Amino acid sequence: MQKITIAIDGFSSCGKSTLAKALAHKLNYSYVDTGAMYRAVTLHALRNNLIDKEDTLNEEGLIKVLDDIEISFVFDQHHKTSETFLNGENVEKFIRDMEVSKHVSKVSSIKEVRAKMIAIQRHMGKKKGVVMDGRDIGTNVFPKADLKIFMTADTDIRAQRRKDEHTSKGQYFSLEEVKRNLQKRDYDDSHRKENPLSQAEDAVVLDNSDISREEQLEFVLKLIDDLHLLMKEREKEKERQRHH
Ligand code: DC
Repeated sequence: MQKITIAIDGFSSCGKSTLAKALAHKLNYSYVDTGAMYRAVTLHALRNNLIDKEDTLNEEGLIKVLDDIEISFVFDQHHKTSETFLNGENVEKFIRDMEVSKHVSKVSSIKEVRAKMIAIQRHMGKKKGVVMDGRDIGTNVFPKADLKIFMTADTDIRAQRRKDEHTSKGQYFSLEEVKRNLQKRDYDDSHRKENPLSQAEDAVVLDNSDISREEQLEFVLKLIDDLHLLMKEREKEKERQRHH
């Protein structure tokens, strides 16, 4: 079957990566977690003291070291998932920390950071057969993506999911604190100047507040089946016109 590009955008902690991973696994596609890329840049900034104790980011300093940052994904056969590498180091267990979450919106709003990440993302998706999740995939990275999904879910449900994720790693935060961080990121991500989070006109909205992971996967697989049928029809039509 013809390989397609699938763009999944939406708010923080909506389950984008869970759905994207399941889809990539099912279709044997590659999965690119673009949020992880911005998180890796943020981790680099924190480690290089480019964010001070007052939480001020040294933008110029970060832009200067951008060329030193190399980000890649390596598929882990054991965990059956792709892991984020920053300059050759597996940083998967650091990039979801609250400290990174607190600063990532700021880092991802920098034009030069975005330009670099978007170039890498376009390169990764060049051959199609990719599921990419983020904030601007369907609107900016791949505006011609074959299938665009915009995910959303109730804020309280999202906050609880993120809190559980932290708890499973032995990190304890109140629900209120996690919720505040989510709401602030949603606001910042949707209101920034460079490629803000917005729903592409041709995106299919998926609100997963009350539906299971299996139902979400089934829903999108059906969309993909329909799309493949449509593509076949279009091909046939082209063939017909060629013979006329
Ligand atoms: O999906 P996530 O929560 O891991 O993303 C982390 C941050 O990165 C998010 O607050 C906004 C930013 N981001 C972005 O600006 N553009 C993307 N394509 C993906 C994420």
